[in-house]
Amino acid sequence: MASPPVIAGNWKMNLLLESSTNLISELKKGGISNSRARVIVIPPATLLSSIAVQIKNTGILLGAQNCHEELTGAFTGEISAEMLASVGCNYVILGHSERRTFFGETNAQIKAKMSSAIQCGLTPIVCVGESLGERKAGGALAKVRTQLEECLVDEVNKNNCIIAYEPIWAIGTGQTAELDDIEEIHCHIRNALKAKISNSNGIPILYGGSVKPENASKILALPDVGGALVGGASLNSKDFLAIIDAASRKSR
Ligand code: PGA
Repeated sequence: MASPPVIAGNWKMNLLLESSTNLISELKKGGISNSRARVIVIPPATLLSSIAVQIKNTGILLGAQNCHEELTGAFTGEISAEMLASVGCNYVILGHSERRTFFGETNAQIKAKMSSAIQCGLTPIVCVGESLGERKAGGALAKVRTQLEECLVDEVNKNNCIIAYEPIWAIGTGQTAELDDIEEIHCHIRNALKAKISNSNGIPILYGGSVKPENASKILALPDVGGALVGGASLNSKDFLAIIDAASRKSR
């Protein structure tokens, strides 16, 4: 049987203690526990401990937005994978385009973070995707393949890795990629994973970039799309619940 669709909500640098508590309580009331989807909330680091307590026994899983490549040490301001695991995280986003663009993260750094995350029992959600210029120049597939080759450690498998394809130009812009383009890239990612990793079968490949209730059903119905990484719409319980509902209805 196919693994359940994954819906991950990346809150980015949003929400405070009170607003995040309200959001979680609305999600709980919305019946998330009965959903067929694997639901992950990914708050900023300040909220992780508090959210971990609030989602206990609800079926909602917890992720972080980044980690440092080292496990401990003199890295002021940084947070290690081990620290994230110790407060109840199951997942960590790595290589989000905002980290690559604003904080200069390289593929080599992302690979080192990935190794550290897996060592600590976290499942990395590794983001790949092209810029608009790269897409217009016909370089989208090559860009994504290079990112996968350079970011992924050899020991990944369906239990310790999720890939998120996020075209940079679609993030937070309200523009989504065409369904054909999403399917083409997801199929390409699946083949690239097969070529690189001996045990890549079943690694979920999520789509991200302006996923909303209005477009979620069509995107999630694509055969090679295993779920969605949702930014803006994950901050609104009604929208996030509608996306989770669309995922639950994806045929098995
Ligand atoms: P968006 O963000 O849904 O707001 O486009 C997606 C993401 O950056 O993960």
